[in-house]
Amino acid sequence: MRSIDFKFLKTWLTNKRRINIWESSCIAGPNILQGFQWGYSVKIKSFMKDKKILDHGGNLDFALQKFGGSPENWLDLSTGINPEGYRGTDSDNFNLNALPTKAALGALEDAARRFWNIPEEAVVIATHGASAPIALLPFILEGQLVSIPQPTYNEHQAAFENAGWNIATQNDPSADVKVLVHPNNPTGQLWSAADLSSHVTLIDESFCDVCPEQSFIAACSHPNTIILKSFGKFWGLAGVRLGFIIGSHPQMQRLRRALGPWAISSHAIALGTQALKDKDWAKRTRQRLDADSQKLDRLVLSQGARLVGGCGLFRSYHVSSAKDWQISLAKAHIWTRIFPYSETLIRFGLPPQAGWERLAVALERVNA
Ligand SMILES: Cc1ncc(COP(=O)(O)O)c(C=O)c1O
Repeated sequence: MRSIDFKFLKTWLTNKRRINIWESSCIAGPNILQGFQWGYSVKIKSFMKDKKILDHGGNLDFALQKFGGSPENWLDLSTGINPEGYRGTDSDNFNLNALPTKAALGALEDAARRFWNIPEEAVVIATHGASAPIALLPFILEGQLVSIPQPTYNEHQAAFENAGWNIATQNDPSADVKVLVHPNNPTGQLWSAADLSSHVTLIDESFCDVCPEQSFIAACSHPNTIILKSFGKFWGLAGVRLGFIIGSHPQMQRLRRALGPWAISSHAIALGTQALKDKDWAKRTRQRLDADSQKLDRLVLSQGARLVGGCGLFRSYHVSSAKDWQISLAKAHIWTRIFPYSETLIRFGLPPQAGWERLAVALERVNA
């Protein structure tokens, strides 16, 4: 029990939170619960078997199983990942034998500070994707009730449930924490300053780099506003696992400690630093994504769909039957995202330039 701090111990002792600590420790690294979890691991693992795995885009394995083919022949539009992402230069040129240095990590966080114009008071912490702070924050923030307006990215609710919080699925002014995904996934809704909570607001800006003028970054000089960024979407580097948490909340340093000393790989540090310094790439990419998302709208709307919303990285539409559309496109090995809570909502990511023709042909068949 040497390395457990008291909040985790208290959390453990609350029965309904028991399972969640195990999961969080898997994400955060073993340092959180060293020496503690082993004694209970068998019991906890059997709890985990019953846990439902959340559905996500990017589940190409499922498409392959059902419709055949090999991954390289599929056009995966089920995510909001830029298909022509940042590649950088010399990205293989690392000393993989050495641990990432503090200096390199500092340079990455400085580059992030400059790229997003982060207020001086705010702390910037590089993380292994936005997913890492999403999973950890519910264990670190104080409170019982979180408001997460739905529909939205389902990992936020799952993470707070894992830590034993009560969830309000619409705005609740009494909530201790409010989560806003900005722009929202899958609706594309943008929030305004009036939507921020007078308590803590966690703003997930994973998709906001297509519209930087909409960012709430200036608000994170205030201790109650925490912002998440992802490198998986705009930069198209989902496999590199890089994100940031930004804020002046008093628990920021605690989060850094919970992440452990080497949470980010050398590869992610080098590629991220390069990408954040390349403002021309960002500008060109915004223009291309904007043009391509309009092109996608024209194609999909011409088949009778109605635009729900989206951003430069994904578009959501209402169609007569989302499932029928998904199946029809899947027969042409094009994978899209549908949602368990709607029979008519379908989301498309953007294809790479080489995929437009194929998408146009397959879309012509969806109503056949
Ligand atoms: C709104 C939102 N936030 C966070 C994530 C996870 O991002 P990352 O790959 O950086 O962990 C996703 C992934 O789909 C997302 O849609």
